Amino acid sequence: MTLGLVWAQAHGGVIGGGGAIPWHVPEDMAHFREVTAGSAVIMGRRTWDSLPERFRPLLGRRNIVVTRRHDWHADGAESAGSLPAALALVGGDGWVIGGGQLYAQAVDSADILEVTHVDLDTDGDTHAPPLDRWRGVRAHPEHGWHTSRTGIRYRFVTYEREAERCPPR
Ligand SMILES: NC(=O)c1ccc[n+]([C@@H]2O[C@H](COP(=O)([O-])OP(=O)(O)OC[C@H]3O[C@@H](n4cnc5c(N)ncnc54)[C@H](OP(=O)(O)O)[C@@H]3O)[C@@H](O)[C@H]2O)c1
Repeated sequence: MTLGLVWAQAHGGVIGGGGAIPWHVPEDMAHFREVTAGSAVIMGRRTWDSLPERFRPLLGRRNIVVTRRHDWHADGAESAGSLPAALALVGGDGWVIGGGQLYAQAVDSADILEVTHVDLDTDGDTHAPPLDRWRGVRAHPEHGWHTSRTGIRYRFVTYEREAERCPPR
């Protein structure tokens, strides 16, 4: 089973503010759809709530929402009482798609990260996990930035886990 995390972060690892993503980069939404197409996607209940109603459930993907609310229900989504319960429900490959709480809980189990770096200083209340134990293995573009039609610069980077350092013999 491969577990991936996919997010977009501004400077300082900001991923959200006030229950929303504080920028609009449609090209990144297209990238997100491509990365997660046909897969199970696992999200925290607040991320589900942050999706505009017309976009949820996310089409062509199995939507799993993690919540402590036993009575939580939404058409087109399955609920799980914890991240391990969500992973057991998936039983195979999947993507954690947010938000901050879910990334923090999932990052130690992840095999791969797909991170969109957004070249923006913005305030926020929700942050991505640190990337210090991960190494970028692919970037698009390789150097520099894409520029969105909204004018914001962004860059896609795939990260794999740093090899664990062996203690000296
Ligand atoms: N930039 C990006 O790529 C990106 C992607 C996704 C989201 N976001 C942003 O991230 C923010 C939301 O993130 P967030 O950290 O506030 O919330 P979140 O991780 O989306 O959801 C938190 C909720 O998940 C449930 N939960 C968390 N841990 C749990 C556990 N161990 N067991 C059972 N349930 C658990 C709880 O739901 P209940 O309260 O129902 O119990 C909790 O309130 C928004 O601003 C959103 O726009 C950004």
